Amino acid sequence: MKQIRRMKKKISMLLLATGLAASASAQLPVELNIQLDNPKGKISSHMWGVFFEDINMGADGGIYAELVKNRSFEFDNPWMGWKKLEHASSEGAYLLLNDQQRKGNKRYVRLTNSAGSKLGLQNEGFRGMGIKAGATYEFSLQHRSNAPGLQVHVALMDEGDQVIAEAQRPLHATAAWTETALRLQATATTGKAKLKIWFTGEGTVDVDMLSLFPLDTWKGRPKGLRKDMVQMLADMKPGFIRFPGGCIVEGRDLANRFQWKKTVGSIDERELIINRWNTEFNHRLTPDYFQTFGLGFYEYFLLAEDIGAAPVPILNCGMACQFNSGELVPMDQLDEYVQDVLDLIEFANGSTATKWGKLRVDMGHPQPFNLKMIGVGNENWGPQYIERLAVFKKALNAKHPEIAIIASSGTDPEGERFEFLDDKLRAMHIDIIDEHYYRPPSWFLSSASRYDNYDRKGAKIFAGEYASHTTRPNGPGKSTWEAALSEAAFMTGLERNGDVVEMASYAPLFGHVDGWQWSPDLIWVDNLQVYGTPSYQVQKLYSTHKGSDIIPVHRDGQPVAGRDSLYASAVYDQNTKELLIKIVNYNSKPMPLRFAIATDRKFAQVAQKISLANKDLNVSNSIEEPLNIQPKQTDIRFKGKTLTDSLAPYSFTLIKLQTK
Ligand code: AHR
Repeated sequence: MKQIRRMKKKISMLLLATGLAASASAQLPVELNIQLDNPKGKISSHMWGVFFEDINMGADGGIYAELVKNRSFEFDNPWMGWKKLEHASSEGAYLLLNDQQRKGNKRYVRLTNSAGSKLGLQNEGFRGMGIKAGATYEFSLQHRSNAPGLQVHVALMDEGDQVIAEAQRPLHATAAWTETALRLQATATTGKAKLKIWFTGEGTVDVDMLSLFPLDTWKGRPKGLRKDMVQMLADMKPGFIRFPGGCIVEGRDLANRFQWKKTVGSIDERELIINRWNTEFNHRLTPDYFQTFGLGFYEYFLLAEDIGAAPVPILNCGMACQFNSGELVPMDQLDEYVQDVLDLIEFANGSTATKWGKLRVDMGHPQPFNLKMIGVGNENWGPQYIERLAVFKKALNAKHPEIAIIASSGTDPEGERFEFLDDKLRAMHIDIIDEHYYRPPSWFLSSASRYDNYDRKGAKIFAGEYASHTTRPNGPGKSTWEAALSEAAFMTGLERNGDVVEMASYAPLFGHVDGWQWSPDLIWVDNLQVYGTPSYQVQKLYSTHKGSDIIPVHRDGQPVAGRDSLYASAVYDQNTKELLIKIVNYNSKPMPLRFAIATDRKFAQVAQKISLANKDLNVSNSIEEPLNIQPKQTDIRFKGKTLTDSLAPYSFTLIKLQTK
């Protein structure tokens, strides 16, 4: 008899371990106990954020709404993106000049027009230009000329060379460089427009900064950001925005690193550089990818403020990307790099009495940007990183003890490189450790309890870049429901451990369908449209339901972190007085559940249930079908303190319960 009982026990343990128990006992609800009156800690106010990098045409050709590619002829090939419109009869009618005395932007074009000719240029845009019927666009150029009576003409053409907008205006004779603008209204919509600019009248004109922006930008700012793309970020209510990367911080070599000082001040004086992603992947070469820095550090801070996100700049630590050149700044020459970090704090927070604070004020922002944390190094590693970081830390702690330092634990979330860095960073009392994980869905599922036993006394964790890659390492990953659901499951672990996990951001943020290098990405765009992937929908549900207190969710006294492919966490929001329960059912079958809320509080008997679900894990969203995976809301009813419900197969569910 004893033997039979033992055998039964063995079999049921085996079933449990293989996850078959739930389906075998499909009718019995799983009991989850929600300890509402026993919060375990606080969720950080900037827990869920976004990671912005100019990769996949995220900035130039993306969120930065400039439609003209190579507007100042500063690309390595100065004519890239441009076509000369008319072959002039005289030699030298089109000249490219390089004036070494001009700051940042040295090249310009000189056109000499004879009576009756129409010299000009055509620009192809960033894989075309996105133009919308009825919308107004502002063309501007800088010119100088001593010829009276010149006219500038501008036209937008569709794919078939039909004119869809046209305007012209006189160009005054002026010895000094002068900006002139004119507006065009489009009669048709196309994502593949091109721009034609030509001149009539007789004489010579120098032109530069040929530019075209929609008037309808984010917050209507002239020469601003693409409204639909920023809106996607604002909708997430992100707690922070990390910028400008990513590997772009490091550069392929040190000359190619991101230098914030070169991205502030007058836009036409910002010196562009080749984008490191231009040449990164042989299978995704993007020869026309440059950083013009129209979206520079001032604009990044402004964007952070606009979307209510804490700014999280990451700066170079004196090391170029170790996947590329791995160039190092000698230890005795680090001063410039350290000074860049100190000066950035002054730029963000300093008063008008300071050099960099004054620049911020002059650029239009008298109030400080309220910078509270800064990253030193992106994915850097080895003792070389640690010894450099120590120099930054000493200077920062001495001058700005109020600023939290974020430091990198390398490229992977485990292994020798990670262990070495994690030990060293903890020993040197780094405030926040930046962990990165690009891993398959199975890793995300099995790592849902990664932080359950993390050290609570030392550094906080920033899950600074992560994404579930269904096809890694064999090719570009698709942003499928499988990837998103495994991230949702993992994120229950981040939320449950919100007392040690300070911040988290999916990476990368944007991908342009015609110009990407890295996939999957959170949000995809073409020149006209934008959509959120299933992962975006997951991120948004978390970040818009962040809560303030961590509420334990137990099954048989244990966290719900993968048994029977169920994952759960909960938070309470002190402001809205809502209990927010998040649950993932990673089963192909429905999962009956019973929630018991352990509380002395009163709460509403009807709760909202918001679900993302699909039986097919391969489903994705797309430009054509942007909302295949989208939240659906229903009401569910409690009976006293318990609720019995069934979770859909392969679903992520948020339950919102109003307490009184
Ligand atoms: O997110 C894309 C890249 O992944 C980042 O630039 C880098 O930090 C990581 O390797």
